[in-house]
Amino acid sequence: MKWPKKVLMAHPDSFDIEYAINPHMKDAKGRLNKVDKEKALKQWEVLKETFNTLGLSVDVLPAVESLPDMVFTANQTFPFLKNNKTQIILSQMNSKKRQDEVTYFSKWANENNMETYAYKTQGSFEGMGDALWNYESDEVYGGYGFRTSEAVYDELEQIIDKKIHRLKLVSENFYHLDTCLAIVNKDTAFVVKEGFDKTSFDFLKTKFTHLIEIPLDEAINGFAGNLCAVNGTDIVIQKDNPYAISKAKDLGFEVHEIDTSEYIKSGGSVFCMKQLFW
Ligand code: ARG
Repeated sequence: MKWPKKVLMAHPDSFDIEYAINPHMKDAKGRLNKVDKEKALKQWEVLKETFNTLGLSVDVLPAVESLPDMVFTANQTFPFLKNNKTQIILSQMNSKKRQDEVTYFSKWANENNMETYAYKTQGSFEGMGDALWNYESDEVYGGYGFRTSEAVYDELEQIIDKKIHRLKLVSENFYHLDTCLAIVNKDTAFVVKEGFDKTSFDFLKTKFTHLIEIPLDEAINGFAGNLCAVNGTDIVIQKDNPYAISKAKDLGFEVHEIDTSEYIKSGGSVFCMKQLFW
């Protein structure tokens, strides 16, 4: 299967922290984190520019005033290929606060002639927050436990005509699979051990010859587990993650360090802020 060449982002004009649906969104005293809007816009622009420089074309959805988490475009859809065309499974967001986001992505898909699928199983599913492609081996890993119900994967397997390897998430800090697993090529992934139950972690060890364990502080504070591989060679990652970055360089990857600190305050970083599609 080929690596996607296109990226979907959403403009951060309305990005903010207005509620807390994961532990990262609050400070030590339990107050909602405050976003520096100007800084957030600059950081988003650098990320967009980085994708451009890496040869990806970027589509941008306009911000929607009442939807402060819309900027995390990994979550509302799950793209897959059928007959060489991008098809889109629409998410059902776990939190009411985010449910309206999906309509805008559905509209975007229709305008771009992509077929959309609405699953019927009872339960939520948060797109590529929880279901991750290994584009090189053509496999899908499905995280469940916080935002996605395991039951939904039975139906998704039918839709995409492929088995989904299920991984149980056990730590609130790693509420989406993309916060604790980053697949960078066929046999290499970065992982946060604390995010998984033992069976799931042991399974990952059988799937990747290079399974790099990210230390907990880089996983929680630097969102290193949310790094984004775009073509098997280049990795985009939050700066100040010395261990993960040096491991990636040792393995021969081209590492692009950027700053997503404003988005980490909401529980997301590079991987969350984009959707790849073909
Ligand atoms: N505040 C957002 C939420 O809790 C962050 C989403 C981050 N996205 C991700 N793919 N992990 O839903």
